[in-house]
Amino acid sequence: MTVDLVLSNGILIVNDRETVQSVAIDRGKIQGFYKHGKEPDSRKTLDCRGLYILPGLIDMHVHLRDLNQSDKEDYESGTMAAAAGGITTVVDMPNSDPPVLSREVLDKKIKSAVSKRFVNVGFYAGIPKDIKSFEVSMVPDILGLKVYPHSPLTKGTIYDKKRIQACLGLARKHNLPLLLHPDSSNRNDIAKNQEEFFHIHSCESELRSLQMFLDAKIEYEARLHVCHVSCAATARLILEHRAEHTLTAEVTPHHMLLSGGDFPHSDGRAKMLPPLRSPYDTKMLAQALCQKCAIDCVASDHAPHTTLEKNAPFLEASSGIPGLETLLPLMLTEVFEGRLSWIDFLRCCCSGPAAILGIPNKGILTEGYDADIILVRRQERYISGAEFFSKAKITPFEGRHVLARLITTIVGGEIVYHDGSFIIGPGIVGRVPVRKS
Ligand code: DOR
Ligand code: ZN
Ligand code: ZN
Repeated sequence: MTVDLVLSNGILIVNDRETVQSVAIDRGKIQGFYKHGKEPDSRKTLDCRGLYILPGLIDMHVHLRDLNQSDKEDYESGTMAAAAGGITTVVDMPNSDPPVLSREVLDKKIKSAVSKRFVNVGFYAGIPKDIKSFEVSMVPDILGLKVYPHSPLTKGTIYDKKRIQACLGLARKHNLPLLLHPDSSNRNDIAKNQEEFFHIHSCESELRSLQMFLDAKIEYEARLHVCHVSCAATARLILEHRAEHTLTAEVTPHHMLLSGGDFPHSDGRAKMLPPLRSPYDTKMLAQALCQKCAIDCVASDHAPHTTLEKNAPFLEASSGIPGLETLLPLMLTEVFEGRLSWIDFLRCCCSGPAAILGIPNKGILTEGYDADIILVRRQERYISGAEFFSKAKITPFEGRHVLARLITTIVGGEIVYHDGSFIIGPGIVGRVPVRKS
């Protein structure tokens, strides 16, 4: 037989060990694994000697903007950033302009993404103020429901016990995870100085918010996913509730690798919500990820803003940083420097998010699974925001020394990106991933 593509003689991780093998791809799927020299005939072969062959990353928390905020990012620039960052599936948050609170807006976002994408793009929806008006027709095309208790998608919504229970009930009814941005501050809490900003969005606030959802969750047995855990105490609380299986959590590379004290905070470069915490918190988050298993996955929380918005003085600057093009090199540097095992890397960046989202055939390199694959070289380099495909170029990781360079990104068996260039145009590859029914 002749297959479409052979990735020959590359480094594959098997049982936490590096092995040398070839991977055959046919009709968008992984066809099989072969010893070098024993591969089937193929229409195309890529020599992968010295390159790691890894599953494409699944980033379950990104803000790709588009629609009325296309000056910040759109599905073309955002998914180019994903492909160039080794991420083959992203899931887009609903706090866009307009927000995803109706089938109509969801359709607009899907239509735009389908014509502009370079990778798979999935979607979340928000929950309207009047929960009874939630449009059930969205359910087959979304992967979860997102709540922002501190900054609801419709003004005037208050996340009291009743609202939280109703949101969990809705998630349970449709078998969707409820994704929580844990923050119990109030929309009207306006910081007058930096100190107040950190006080409003403190670890106590994060912890209190999660506790309220955990209290309500016991009654509703919904699946709760805690976004961007930033505090050691929050990770501890998650660990204490672990027995329930229905509680999952993510951490961002920035909350794990940077602390607030690393930045003067006089500008908005490192301004994000939740804010960067103490060195103790970063240390405990790294441990929660690889030893204690309080954290299931890593997500970038790619939150692009314009240079003008980020260069403003701290209080006025927009919260959020680009993350699609730094996630892979930062996490692989943790592996290459011995702080993260290959097993934990593959779990938290690939198979973990696929399991949380319930998307089949992704996140693992195995026969019959989607050929969403990346090739990576171990190479020293420095992060440079100016090289990003994202429209957002300001990163708190500017100048950071990393040990990995993405060489090739393959989505559904098609080579999308290779050696710094895009091989195909927008809208050719990619799907809207849907849950296993
Ligand atoms: O810093 C943040 N930026 N945190 C969020 O929760 C939202 C995000 C955004 O959309 O810009
Ligand atoms: Zn958030
Ligand atoms: Zn976010």
